[in-house]
Amino acid sequence: MAENRSWGGRFSGGPRAATAAYTESQSFDRALYRHDIRASQAHAAMLGRRGVLSHEDTAAIIAGLDRVREEMDSGAFVWKPELEDVHMNVEARLTDIIGDAGKKLHTGRSRNDQVGLAFRLYVADSVAAWRKNTVSLCDVLTQRAAEHKNDMLPGYTHLQPAQPVSLAHHLLAYAWMFRRDVQRLTDALGRVRVSPLGAAALAGSPWPLDPESVAREVGFDAVYANSMDAVSDRDFVLETIFCAATIMMHLSRLCEEIILWANPAFGFVRLPDGYATGSSIMPQKKNPDVAELMRGKTGRVYGALTAALTMMKGLPLAYNRDLQEDKEAFFEAEATAAPSLCLMAGMLAEMEFRPDRMREACKAGFLNATELADYLAARGLPFRDAHRAAGRAVARAESLGKGLEDMSLEELQAIEPRVAADVYAALDYAASLRRRETTGGTGPRSVERQLEQMEQWLSERAAEQA
Ligand code: ARG
Repeated sequence: MAENRSWGGRFSGGPRAATAAYTESQSFDRALYRHDIRASQAHAAMLGRRGVLSHEDTAAIIAGLDRVREEMDSGAFVWKPELEDVHMNVEARLTDIIGDAGKKLHTGRSRNDQVGLAFRLYVADSVAAWRKNTVSLCDVLTQRAAEHKNDMLPGYTHLQPAQPVSLAHHLLAYAWMFRRDVQRLTDALGRVRVSPLGAAALAGSPWPLDPESVAREVGFDAVYANSMDAVSDRDFVLETIFCAATIMMHLSRLCEEIILWANPAFGFVRLPDGYATGSSIMPQKKNPDVAELMRGKTGRVYGALTAALTMMKGLPLAYNRDLQEDKEAFFEAEATAAPSLCLMAGMLAEMEFRPDRMREACKAGFLNATELADYLAARGLPFRDAHRAAGRAVARAESLGKGLEDMSLEELQAIEPRVAADVYAALDYAASLRRRETTGGTGPRSVERQLEQMEQWLSERAAEQA
């Protein structure tokens, strides 16, 4: 019925049931109730300071809102779909509890700036949690890297064995990706934490509002500069979903490697039991379902980003109801990214690495062929010719069923007479890895530097939290 609705004055009939069901948002935006109430209390306090509300009304509103929140926390609250959204459910209940003073809360405010602030508060809390979880994931990667400084595995290009790298180096490559994600989230947070309250419907308000004090009271850093932009801007939603999409993309790459590494043909890791499942028919199976699902769920976040970007495309100023779609897009990103970050950290912490298998794979892949080419080039053969000679040596070793380092000096000299006895030192995998000390290379000193940089950064992040 129209008279139930806060906007019912100019309507003689209520919406059709299908319209009400199509337009309501309380079924999902009730997730914002704490943030909506916090913002309403800040608004009421500001109206009180400005003399717009009496001291008694202000106190009654703030206390009444505390009660509404308690009812919602306990589950006693009866949500009314006909009241459309979280904002009107809260306000209607407030008025039930405290009477007419509740009807004064909305003075100088519109749902357009109200929802903007409530949602920004919600997004800020979520993004701060993602950020914390992403730091934790960097921490696990760094710890596991520190344990495996002296273990090597094949590095791949085109997923073909290329050159040996240290396991620490490989794991740290992911730590650097997630560290950039943390930086992106921090940067985005600066634009989330801007209060739009005071913009009212779109044009500002004739009431003597004080938007800066509202922002301060809810813990935000800044206020909007333009009321029309304030109520229609959803860049903060797009940016944060993009951050989640990039995190999921990084996670999906790591998942793909874990899936490959757990395959017996690689056998580089044993999956922790808590992060794998069996098959109902094949008793030998231990499937990497968590990693597979994480890889698969990445698409949901890309979907949310596409939905949100498309929702914004071509929207005229200022508020349009399309914007209500921002919430479920963000929730989808959140419901996917937040548990994925935690599960990946848990899975990595318990993962058993198998350096023996990794070392064997280096040998099987002729990962020292580049070393032989470099060895010959250092002895005067032009690099292109050295490359060809090393290629012939690989073909010969393959036909003999052994590694380059297992060929006799005569066998190697038959291919290129410049080879001498010191070639075996050059063909040593560990030595090849140790020689790669260029900036950010896989050599032990370079990896040690990365570990120090990462540990330093992690301790700065820990100090922030404290
Ligand atoms: N539920 C709406 C949303 O999420 C709240 C704002 C509605 N404003 C309006 N003028 N209809 O965007």
